[in-house]
This record gives sequence, structure tokens and C-alpha cells, in this order.
Amino acid sequence: MEKKKFYIETYGCQMNFSDSEIVVSVLKDNDFEITKDPKEAELIFINTCSIRDNAEQRVWKRLRELKSLKKKKPELRIGVIGCMAERLKQQLMEEEKAVDLIAGPDVYRHLPDLISMAEAGQKAANVLLSEEETYAEISPVRYASNQVTAFISIMRGCENFCAYCVVPFTRGKERSRNPETILKEATKLLEEGYREVTLLGQNVNSYHWEKGNGITGFPQLLEKIASINPLLRVRFATSHPKDISDQLLQVISKHENICNAIHLPVQSGSSRILKLMNRKYTREWYMDRIRTIKKYIPDCAISTDIISGFCTETEVDHKDTLSMMKWAEYDYAFMFKYSERPDTLAAKNLKDDVPEKVKSERLQEIIELQQQLSFESNKRDIDKVFKVLAESTSRRSKNHLSGRNSQNKVVVFPKLAYKPGDYVKVRITDCTPATLIGKAVDSDI
Ligand code: 5AD
Ligand code: SF4
Repeated sequence: MEKKKFYIETYGCQMNFSDSEIVVSVLKDNDFEITKDPKEAELIFINTCSIRDNAEQRVWKRLRELKSLKKKKPELRIGVIGCMAERLKQQLMEEEKAVDLIAGPDVYRHLPDLISMAEAGQKAANVLLSEEETYAEISPVRYASNQVTAFISIMRGCENFCAYCVVPFTRGKERSRNPETILKEATKLLEEGYREVTLLGQNVNSYHWEKGNGITGFPQLLEKIASINPLLRVRFATSHPKDISDQLLQVISKHENICNAIHLPVQSGSSRILKLMNRKYTREWYMDRIRTIKKYIPDCAISTDIISGFCTETEVDHKDTLSMMKWAEYDYAFMFKYSERPDTLAAKNLKDDVPEKVKSERLQEIIELQQQLSFESNKRDIDKVFKVLAESTSRRSKNHLSGRNSQNKVVVFPKLAYKPGDYVKVRITDCTPATLIGKAVDSDI
């Protein structure tokens, strides 16, 4: 029997990409076949994101395009899955007549049943959130992989309730995945030739698994994964500053193959705004964490997320954010304008009172400062030698490889006889604000 072809498109964060790999696995096990060409698909899935209004707008636009595709091809079925499905089930069904199937992030095992319902002409929707589902034993299908680096989801959900954030509502309660299944997945990836795994969770530092008397916390889990094989590099994201422990930093400094890069979203440099954001730390506390990171891991790269124009933010608060950025010398940052999300604590209790124009101006200032900081950080790396994991041929030149160093910086260097998956010692000779450029020094690492 010919297998039905499906196409999947992913918006949003790494967690969502990781979820799409689960979806592909579930469907492949049920006699569906993935295609890279939406035109030949009988089913199209859109894995959606709700984090900011513009993320949702992009999906609405895509749905309008798909609606016209469906007019030409009425047998096409369209499924909306992920965070927006969770948040807007009713609206998606009513307003977008093109949508046949809706599935929240915790029901991907039931997709085959939902597809059968949709094919029978029924409206198929399930957005139940689970307190247990971690897709622990499902082997993700790495359908868009570079064969060198992979994500492993170690926990789901979030209970931090940062005032601006929709995630606790779209992804539900926090739950950790059985560590044995995580170890198995990492070991299998190594055997298949992968050389780097990134452990993913909304807040990896609250990873917690109990069995009998044994408790596995995040430092223990990280140590177990790092001990599989020195050839397998380990990264993780994201850490909430309130939970990043000295014990974790000790584990990172002890293992060469745990990368020296920590993503530590600050969100704002003003203690007053941090309190309104319900971040549960102050500017001083955050600075202390960075000092401690540098004490244990002097060459650790630090990256961050910043929101500009949160409710009541003044020029003084904004200056605090800029001064925090300069103090921390962030190597990299994701920077956003505040976007009010329905149901969140901020939407309920605070007024979105910073004018759009002011938000944009402040964001622009933040972006320009970060560009300088990233460039300066890269310039400081000139003449240094890094161990780089080659990932792929450079997009700009087929004679160059592109990879990353432990600090997560992109490094481009002449290919010579090296190939993706090799560790290469590279001396940095030049840089741009976004990339380090260098040459291999020898191959004895
Ligand atoms: N508006 C703007 N940015 C947001 N983020 C989360 N929620 C919002 C929002 N409502 C940002 C935070 C978070 C990153 C993933 O997205 O900086 O760390
Ligand atoms: Fe990821 Fe958050 Fe977007 Fe959901 S809303 S896809 S958790 S970034």
C-alpha cells in the first residue's frame, strides 16, 4: 500500500523543532511518509509558536496561503499543532475553515487517530495537557539534521509564570523525562556518528527525577551524559538565573566535553522591572551568578534574552538594561519588544503602557549595543586557538567548513581534508561581528 505523504513546517523555539521530530516519528510508525515538498503532500502540519504576537501573525498568514492551496486541492488536510493550537483551538476551527486538525503539544501520540477523524470529514481537535507525557521512549526522527548535532528534550512544560510569558499556559506543568531514556538516546546518536547533543527544557536546572531512593538532578544528568564518551559534546538550554547552582558549574568545569557556554536570560537590567516580571531575582543577584560562572569557568561564553518596553519601563530602567549588557559583555543576545499575551500575569495585572515607538527605539539601541559587544568579544578571540566541531560546508564557500567552538561561536576555516563531524584545532585570524575566521593548526586533537 502506498504510504500517505505529509509535510511539516516548524515555527518557534528549539523545543518545537524537537517536538516536530517526535511527530515525524509517530507518523512514520503509522505508515505515513515525510516529504520535503508541500505540493506533493496529502497532509500539511504547522507546528506553531505563541510567544509573541508576531509569531502568531506569521502563522495566520501561512494559513491563508494554505487555504488557497486547498481550494486547488480539496483532498489536502491541514493540521495546526503546538502552542498556538493549544491557545487558540476555538478560533482556529472557526475562523480558518482550512484547518482540519488541531493538536496541542501533549497529544502527538494520538495524531494517527486525529488524522483518521479529519479524513472522515470530522473536525479533529485535542488540546489536553498532560502531567506525565514526556515522549520518553519515542525515538525522534532527525529529518532535518546535519548528522553532527542534535537536540534531546529532557523535560517539558514550565511553572515559573514569568509575568509576560504564555508558555505555562501552552505547555502546561513541568515534568522531567526518565534519565535512562535520555542516556540511551544520546548513546544511539553517538553510535550514528553525531558529535554534539543539546539538552533541552524550558528550565533545565529544575530537571528532577526520582526512583526509589535515587534522585537525579540536572548536574547529575549532565555528568552522566558527558561521561558517555569524550567525543560527544554536550550543551544545554535554557537556564533560569534563579536556579543555576554552583554544583552545576563545578560539573561543567570538570568535563572538557561540556561546552563552556551558558544561556542565561536576564530579560531586564532593572530590579524593579524584574520584580514586575516575576523573575524572582534582582540585578545584583544576577551579577553575582555571572561572577560565580566566571570563577568556575573563566572562558565561559554568556548569552542572554532581553525584552524591551515591558509594562511601566522608564528611561532609567532601560539604561539599567544597557549598563547590565555592558557589564556582562554578552557574547550573544536574543532581543525582543514586549508583546502582551492574553491570560498572562502581566496581561491581567499590568498596563502595556510603553508606546510602540518607544519600545522600538529602545530595542534598536539594545541591538546596536549588542552588535558592538559581539564584535568586541570576537575581536578578543583573534590569535586564540579553539577546538572546533565541524558541522557543514560553509554557506559562502564550498572550500570552507563551518563549525562551532565550545563557546558556541561560529568558526569558518579552510576545508582541506577535514569533514563534518571532525574536531579541528583552529587558530583565529580574523572576524566579523557574527563569525570567527581561522585556519586549522594541526589535527592531533
Ligand atoms: N514578549 C516579548 N518577548 C517575550 N519572550 C517571552 N515572552 C515574551 C513576550 N510576551 C522572550 C523572552 C524569552 C524568550 C524565549 O522570548 O526573552 O526568554
Ligand atoms: Fe516554544 Fe514558547 Fe513558542 Fe511554544 S510559545 S513554541 S514554547 S517559544
